[in-house]
Amino acid sequence: MIKSLRGMNDILSEDYERFTYFINTATDVAQKYGFHFIETPLLEETALFKRSVGESSDIVGKEMYQFIDKGENDVCLRPEGTAGVVRAFIQKKLDKAGGLHRYFYHGSMFRYERPQKGRLRQFHQFGVESFGSESVYEDANMIMMVADILDACGIGYRLQLNSLGDSMCMPTYRDNLVKFVERRKDDVCEDCVRRLDTNPIRVLDCKNGKCQEIYVNAPKLIDNLCESCDTDFTVLKKILDTNEIKYEIDTNLVRGLDYYSKTAFEFVSDDIGSQSAIAGGGRYDRLVEFLDGKPTPAVGFAMGIERLMELIKMPEQTKEGYYIGALDENAVDLVVQLAHKKRRTDKVTIDYKAKNFKNHIKGADKVNAKYFVLIGSNEIQSGAIVIKNLEDKTEDNIPIEEF
Ligand code: HAM
Repeated sequence: MIKSLRGMNDILSEDYERFTYFINTATDVAQKYGFHFIETPLLEETALFKRSVGESSDIVGKEMYQFIDKGENDVCLRPEGTAGVVRAFIQKKLDKAGGLHRYFYHGSMFRYERPQKGRLRQFHQFGVESFGSESVYEDANMIMMVADILDACGIGYRLQLNSLGDSMCMPTYRDNLVKFVERRKDDVCEDCVRRLDTNPIRVLDCKNGKCQEIYVNAPKLIDNLCESCDTDFTVLKKILDTNEIKYEIDTNLVRGLDYYSKTAFEFVSDDIGSQSAIAGGGRYDRLVEFLDGKPTPAVGFAMGIERLMELIKMPEQTKEGYYIGALDENAVDLVVQLAHKKRRTDKVTIDYKAKNFKNHIKGADKVNAKYFVLIGSNEIQSGAIVIKNLEDKTEDNIPIEEF
């Protein structure tokens, strides 16, 4: 038997209900915030991700589904959504148009990671990207949007917040951090030594316990922010306080993608095990320029749908629509005909087999139908049917043509 690839799941039945419920809820919130849908291809030039997510990131270094296509192009299944949206934004010359441009998207992302609970090789994100605003109020807007989506789905969270500085303060901080780690080179892990040459601030989120003990005493970026970053971070915290969104400052939160500056945030859940990040994002003011666009401030986030599906509190299912059943073979045609008409306005379930009352009522329960209609020789002869309301148990006797 051929099975699906490791870390790539089917989504059907009850899972699919959760999946669409989440997407519909998040879409509704994003539209209320004035965001528009954008769809970008699943396949892009590999160079796009190398230049945006960054060569030193694990995503580009180890996890890309990269191949040469039949036209000798070096292509890659998208590991995340931001790079493609930025590419589209520049390609459509929206960077030159000025003003605010706000998009949301959802779809499959691919990362060749080691599969485990909550970590897949093909997973789905709901993401949002906002271009053209350098105001920290837009950063707050992003965080409030995630909080609204999670609240609407009944999902609890902890919000972790950090500032990664900008091109004014980050380089000096980076030098100080490198000096700190170099003095302890013999005690930190090999990965951290390697990170000193590639992307030193990634040492801060090393998962090795011994390294973490050492970095407790490392210089903190938020203590070394330039005036503008420091002011923005203070304002952001004030906006969140005013809007009653609780947060924790995590000075080691650096995010796994290279394009961030200033605000970085992650929403985590304590209820889904070790892969606890349910959403992550931040500001990326230099990315549009890196990808040859006109310098444009930007900020965004993405949420991991599979992880959220574990946590969603679905609203109680209400009974809905009709179940129409045939009691004998010669009623089947009429059942199909009535269902065809009724489906213009209502959900209708039918079964092509003639069955007795007991079996039909089981079918109606299974699909959670509100109204139950059976048609047999008696109904055909009398030209009338009984509509049972399965919720309040009332019955209505009507002529067939009025149905
Ligand atoms: P990210 O933190 O890499 O950010 O991913 C966002 C979310 O996707 C994570 O918080 C997690 O819920 C989910 N996720 C990531 N990897 C996996 C996996 N292997 N299996 C299941 N779920 C996963 C980004 O992708 C950025 N593009 C977010 C962003 C948008 N920043 C600015 N704009």
